[in-house]
Amino acid sequence: MKPKIAIIGKGNVGSALQRGLEAAKYEVKSVGKDPARVRETAAWGEIIILAVPYPAVDDAIREMGDAVRGKTLIDATNVLTPDYQLALGFTTSGAEELQKKVPSAKVVKAFNTIFAEHMATGQAKGTALTLFAAGNDKEAKAKILNLGRDIGFDALDAGPLMNARWLETLGYFNIQLGYTLGMGTKLGFKLIR
Ligand SMILES: NC(=O)c1ccc[n+]([C@@H]2O[C@H](COP(=O)([O-])OP(=O)(O)OC[C@H]3O[C@@H](n4cnc5c(N)ncnc54)[C@H](OP(=O)(O)O)[C@@H]3O)[C@@H](O)[C@H]2O)c1
Repeated sequence: MKPKIAIIGKGNVGSALQRGLEAAKYEVKSVGKDPARVRETAAWGEIIILAVPYPAVDDAIREMGDAVRGKTLIDATNVLTPDYQLALGFTTSGAEELQKKVPSAKVVKAFNTIFAEHMATGQAKGTALTLFAAGNDKEAKAKILNLGRDIGFDALDAGPLMNARWLETLGYFNIQLGYTLGMGTKLGFKLIR
C-alpha cells in the first residue's frame, strides 16, 4: 500500500508534485492558505510535504499542530528572504530549525534543489534528475527515496538532516543559475556516480 500524501501549499511545487504522485498512483490531497483545511489535510496524510514560501513556514506549522506527530515531514522549501537572498546557512538550515520546532515529526529535506517544472516527472530533457534527500530517520528517508523513484527521479540518500545546509545552498545556486544568470528553469542537477 502506498502512503497517503498531504501537500501543504498548492502553488508551482505543490501542484507539480501532486501531478507526479497521482501519475505514480499515490492518493494525494493538497491545500493552500486555508488554516482549518491545513490541519485536516495534514491529519489525513501519512506523509506531509511542506511546499509553502519560507516566510509562511511558521504559520503552516502552527496550523498543522499535532497532526504532524510521528509522521514524515518533507521540507521542500528554499530558505529565502523576500528579496531572494539565502535566509540561513552554514551553521544551521531551515530544515534543522523546522525539526527543532516539530520534534515529534521526522523531517526530511528534499525537492528544494529542483525547479517545479521537473517535479511532475523527475526528468529534464529526458534525463532523470537527482533527488537529494537528507534526514536523520532512515525509515522516513527511505519512504521519500521510494516516492521520488516512483515519480521518475534518480533518488539519492544525501545523509543526515545537517546536510540540508548544503542542499539549501544548492537550491539557492539553482535559483542563481536559472534566474539571476538567466539560464532558465529547464536545467537541473544530476549526480554522476
Ligand atoms: N518554484 C520552484 O521552482 C521551487 C523549487 C524548489 C523549491 N521551491 C520552494 O517551494 C516552496 C513553494 O514554492 P512555489 O513556487 O510552489 O510557491 P507558490 O507558487 O507561491 O505557492 C505557495 C503555496 O503556499 C501556500 N501558502 C502560503 N501560506 C500558507 C500557509 N500559511 N499555509 C498553507 N499554505 C500556504 C499558497 O496558498 P494560496 O495559493 O492559497 O495563496 C500557495 O498554494 C517555496 O518555499 C519555494 O522556495 C520552489
